[in-house]
Amino acid sequence: METMKRTVTCGELRADRAGQTVVLNGWIHRKRDHGGITFINLRDRYGVTQVVVDTKTPAAAHTVAPDLDAVVAELRSEYCIAVEGVVRLRPEEMANPSMPTGAIEALASKIVILNKSEPLPFQIDETINAGEDLRLTYRYLDMRSERMQRRIKLRSDVTFAAREFMINQGFYEIETPTFIKPTPEGARDYLVPSRLYAGKFYALPQSPQLYKQMLMAGGFDKYFQIARCYRDEDSRGDRQPEFTQIDIEMSFVSRDDILSITEWLMGHVFMKTLGIALPERFKRLTWEEAQEKYGSDKPDLRFGMELRDFAPYVEAAGFQAFKDALAEGGGVKALVVRGGADYSRKRIEELEAHAKIYKAKGMAWMKVASGATGGAALEGGVAKFFTANAGDVIKGLDVAPGDLILIVADAKRKIANTALGAVRVKLGKDLRLADPRAFEFVWVVDFPLFEFNEEANHWEAAHHLFSQPQEQYHDILESDPGAVLGDLYDLVLNGYELASGSIRVHKPELQKRIFSIAGIPPEEAERKFGFLTNAFKYGAPPHGGIASGLDRLVMLMAGETSIKEVIAFPKNSFAASPMDDCPCEIEQKQLDELHVVVRTP
Ligand code: AMO
Repeated sequence: METMKRTVTCGELRADRAGQTVVLNGWIHRKRDHGGITFINLRDRYGVTQVVVDTKTPAAAHTVAPDLDAVVAELRSEYCIAVEGVVRLRPEEMANPSMPTGAIEALASKIVILNKSEPLPFQIDETINAGEDLRLTYRYLDMRSERMQRRIKLRSDVTFAAREFMINQGFYEIETPTFIKPTPEGARDYLVPSRLYAGKFYALPQSPQLYKQMLMAGGFDKYFQIARCYRDEDSRGDRQPEFTQIDIEMSFVSRDDILSITEWLMGHVFMKTLGIALPERFKRLTWEEAQEKYGSDKPDLRFGMELRDFAPYVEAAGFQAFKDALAEGGGVKALVVRGGADYSRKRIEELEAHAKIYKAKGMAWMKVASGATGGAALEGGVAKFFTANAGDVIKGLDVAPGDLILIVADAKRKIANTALGAVRVKLGKDLRLADPRAFEFVWVVDFPLFEFNEEANHWEAAHHLFSQPQEQYHDILESDPGAVLGDLYDLVLNGYELASGSIRVHKPELQKRIFSIAGIPPEEAERKFGFLTNAFKYGAPPHGGIASGLDRLVMLMAGETSIKEVIAFPKNSFAASPMDDCPCEIEQKQLDELHVVVRTP
């Protein structure tokens, strides 16, 4: 091997190296035989170089290894080989300007097979057609594709840029433990049984939340960590059981300090890795505005299509269902689809079915047509109930002939908003309203601190238990939890929740009140979180922070819709890894040591 160790990579040779003898190491991407001359595209992480094997042409006046033809005859796709050769310019008509190394080729004098490859389960670079489990079983082959190589590089670049920025801003990177007491973030915990303490378990962190707060109590006022988190929850395109956060916490700060540092961080990462300049400040919406205008707390602002309040047109019209919804304190919301008047009944029913997934009881519609006198008129669907005030509707919603109006009414305003918001997102996708290359960041602020859990019949923390209620609500925490807004913020990018954070509670009394409102009895609060409230007793500073999902960030930067595409070894949709068959059964001896008895269903 020593003499056949690479002297250059497959991506670096250019015309100025012509005449030099080099050694390349890599994989056979393609092999083509052209009447006795063999062309090999040799690939590594850095690129592809064309290797030519020509033992027949006398003009190729260079000495070749006696076994060269025999070795070449053996070569197949994905063999890992070493090639010694002379760099030469390709004849002009053979140059390939689309390849960085396209001006040259390496005329082989010797080839050594470093390792053979069995026939492949799928073609490299054509993994898009392979099923997910096949790709994950052979992830090491999938990774050889240009797409995966690009994405994993982007992830490395983004991680580096984030570290570089945080360190330059005076943050310390501090690791927190992965065997911890449970830190609730709303998911189930992954647990690790203890051998030394029979019947006791460590939890894997759902996030470093409590530990980063401890670091603030410990005086490290600017902390960050590229932190691994573990959550046992249903997989989705943007969720994995283990994932990574860019986790940040700071002391003596206000909400706007955290928002600013996050904006700069994103600006730095986008400029460094994609060369894209982001706006210095991101837009802001209150949670309330986001619900009312987009029916979502993670709106995609790459397109408009805002929800409109339809309530002003209900009273004068004769449609009882809308009146009832308002009478019960709910809402009636409308969505205008420009040019949607030609939608078939079937298409509208599809959209209604989508609204129903989000608990809408139905979706009314009207089309805008040209009126007899040349203006606009409402027709179809529920239009007949609005003849008396059609002019107001047309003017108020600013619709024109050719438009479609979709309306959802519900006694719960949130349902009207959410269902129509979901229809908005679906139409955005179907009509390709969003520019796939755009990055639209928006802050959603002023979330409610508590949410009522109907099933459990008690209030619970909307984000997590450690977020600060805004000052003006401290007096009504117990009397009207639903009205309390928290010092909470989410950063949304193109319709995905990218980051989430809050200013924290830092006084023991307030923390205890929050536990109590969230239905956690004092003994349980003490047992689970006593270490936190204790730390607050010793002059813990005011503090706050945020965590950005690194996987989601890289996914969006790479233009993907699944975080699996930017994780080297992700789990499949069923939280398993087909490559190494994980999770797996454990030998009895090991279970005994861990005091674990397995109950098979
Ligand atoms: P939160 O639970 O909102 O907040 O998580 C922060 C960010 O982490 C990402 N994320 C995920 N990414 C992939 N797979 C998952 N299963 C997953 N779950 C979350 C998202 C999300 O916005 N400790 C708090 C943060 C804080 O308050 O500082 C927390 O973890 O991008």
